Amino acid sequence: MSNIEQTLSIIKPDAVERNLEGEIKEIFKNNGFEILKEKKIQIEKSEAENFYRVHETKPFYNDLCDYLSSGPIVVMVLEKKNAVKANRELMGATNPKDAENGTIRKKYGISIDKNSVHGSDSADNAKIEIDFFFKD
Ligand code: CMP
Repeated sequence: MSNIEQTLSIIKPDAVERNLEGEIKEIFKNNGFEILKEKKIQIEKSEAENFYRVHETKPFYNDLCDYLSSGPIVVMVLEKKNAVKANRELMGATNPKDAENGTIRKKYGISIDKNSVHGSDSADNAKIEIDFFFKD
């Protein structure tokens, strides 16, 4: 059964700053993802707080929101069969030091904070996150 899904991907400030946007997009395309929408933006801290609201109670929430709003990011809608899971596999573990060889975070991630990419963690959250950045 085909299950074409969309998911939200963010190329985070550490990767944009190192000019990795092109390379990371190539990795998505080479792994069968279609980039349906994309934009490079810088968000306010208040927007980062809204985006990461699920992490509000976590000790790293404030730093996380400072970080996501600290520089330009690239937000993308990716489409593929089972895109949410496929993207999470391609990104690798949240902490780059735990990520498997061949994953984006293993290749480019610097630390658990500067882990180069974000991806939606479920189909429901993908819809919410895509709406957050691309509702028009
Ligand atoms: P991301 O997939 O964007 O979702 C939330 C982010 O919080 C995560 O990637 C990490 O960059 C960051 N983070 C910082 N500390 C932690 C932690 N202890 N556990 C999970 N995520 C963390």
